[in-house]
Amino acid sequence: MKDKVFITREIPSVATELLKENNIEVDTWTDLAPPTKEEIIQEGQKAQAIISMVSDPLDKVFFESCSHLKVISNFAVGVNNIDLKTASKKNIPIGNTPDVLTDATADLALCLLLALSRNLLPSIKNAKEGDWRRWEPLGFLGTALQKKSLGIIGMGRIGQSFAKKCHFGLGMNIVYHSRNDIPHVNEEYKIQKSSLEETLRSDVVSIHCDLNSSTKHLMNRRTFSLMKKEAYFINTSRGEVVDQKDLFEVLKNNKIKGAGLDVTSPEPLPPTDELFGLENIIITPHIASATKEARDQMATIAAKNVILGLRGQELLHSVTS
Ligand code: GLV
Repeated sequence: MKDKVFITREIPSVATELLKENNIEVDTWTDLAPPTKEEIIQEGQKAQAIISMVSDPLDKVFFESCSHLKVISNFAVGVNNIDLKTASKKNIPIGNTPDVLTDATADLALCLLLALSRNLLPSIKNAKEGDWRRWEPLGFLGTALQKKSLGIIGMGRIGQSFAKKCHFGLGMNIVYHSRNDIPHVNEEYKIQKSSLEETLRSDVVSIHCDLNSSTKHLMNRRTFSLMKKEAYFINTSRGEVVDQKDLFEVLKNNKIKGAGLDVTSPEPLPPTDELFGLENIIITPHIASATKEARDQMATIAAKNVILGLRGQELLHSVTS
């Protein structure tokens, strides 16, 4: 009998083609509404593998109900949606898709930063809505990024890529805070790892760390209070790294200049959320890896992880607790 993989959302067809070529039956959830936790369990019980999305909570209950699975392949680099400890107890390998979305994610962080610092959204609205009546010597004045400091929190692959684009492309000075000192980064920018407090005093603060118990609500009333009034805040990692109520207060009271978020808590963020009422924020719907190139490569890796996992072989990319 053929092995079956349940894919919790439609993903690029390169994945399904590869899986079928390898004699694996593919069952894709095609409803617009994503499957509920119960539906993932139900479908998972009929399969030997799952390709999951970052928004699918695969918790202890899931693993208790689906302990027969041979592999879970997360269509993402982040795996905070998965209870890794229980997966490991059940001996279920967990795959992810690093590297191929690094540039796409750093590019989106750059988009958010440029859009904020050059008032892109209000100026597009002005032109489109008939308010463009004259050339404005004093209108839409933004902030130059050249020679400004970029404080990166979490200097992994994506943080490093963003640093490179901002330093070599825009002439920004890099400051970073990470778990470890990173010798090649230190050498490249002639710097050393900084304290969190020092990093927060940069002109731009950008979050690139994983979500875990030590980074949950890392950005809160206290840490936001260390930022400059003129600073921009960017988050392309996970919404839960930020205490959103505190971010709202900080933005409402103009304690920082603006924020660009690609991730929120919850996701999707309801349109009635108070953050949408602010002028000094840009929110995108978790699209950082959304380029055709990145998503195709993520799909290929996700499918390969399933194929290898079903064969009992080491995954191309895997994570452990
Ligand atoms: C997206 O958020 C990812 O982790 O790949």
